[in-house]
Amino acid sequence: MSHLCIFVMAKAIVIANWKMNPETASEAKRLFRAVVKGARGVKNVDVVIAPSFVYLNMFHVSSFRFHVKLAAQDCFWEEKGAYTGEISPAMLKNLGVTHVIIGHSERRMHLGETDEMVNKKIKAVLKTGLTPILCVGERVRERANEIPASVGEQVKKALAGLKKNEFKNGIIAYEPVWAIGTGMPDTAEGATRAALYIRKTVRDILGGKTADSLRVIYGGSVNAKNAASFISKDIRGMEGSLVGGASLDADEFVQIAKSV
Ligand code: PGA
Repeated sequence: MSHLCIFVMAKAIVIANWKMNPETASEAKRLFRAVVKGARGVKNVDVVIAPSFVYLNMFHVSSFRFHVKLAAQDCFWEEKGAYTGEISPAMLKNLGVTHVIIGHSERRMHLGETDEMVNKKIKAVLKTGLTPILCVGERVRERANEIPASVGEQVKKALAGLKKNEFKNGIIAYEPVWAIGTGMPDTAEGATRAALYIRKTVRDILGGKTADSLRVIYGGSVNAKNAASFISKDIRGMEGSLVGGASLDADEFVQIAKSV
């Protein structure tokens, strides 16, 4: 007698991280319009765009109309007050933002963001009812078959003090630093191994329900040619991608969304 194995895949998600681009509002509008137009043909994939803070307001209404979700690239952990230059999760929510990228390696490495700050931001984002996209990743490539222990540490510190089911709709992006913007992505095997390790780490600290319901995605030199290889087919490995450079080309980004 054969066993029937029912395996429930989470819906894939593709996130465009525009970083500090483009330079003008009209370029940003053009890019946004081209992406939402192309994304109309994309089924069963969540498409999320993370523009610079200054463009979020411009896309608020259109994102509802076109079923594209809006993300911020960062936020502050306090609710309000005398914090010059900072932006609260509530301000983002009021602009129609649904997701917030937290702990991107560019912030950790160049702007002094610590694990403790990442943890505070995750808590603030969850408290506001937004979905955090936690970024983790090792700086230097490990030898083949080695699991980067620093990634487990980052996950533990980022999620420290959370209640068991608080992160169940959260997203963790595995982004090896050496693969970001280098044109040298991880292999599908390497990224899958890291994704499984991340899910196991979450299982150990927040339990099986959260580990089974969160989404783990991959980021680092994803493009239209390789995006499909970063979606795990028959295990709960990777379920989407965080795309930097290639998301500034609307056609390429739409191709990525279609290919997953
Ligand atoms: P990349 O960036 O796609 O340009 O490598 C990914 C990221 O930093 O999120």
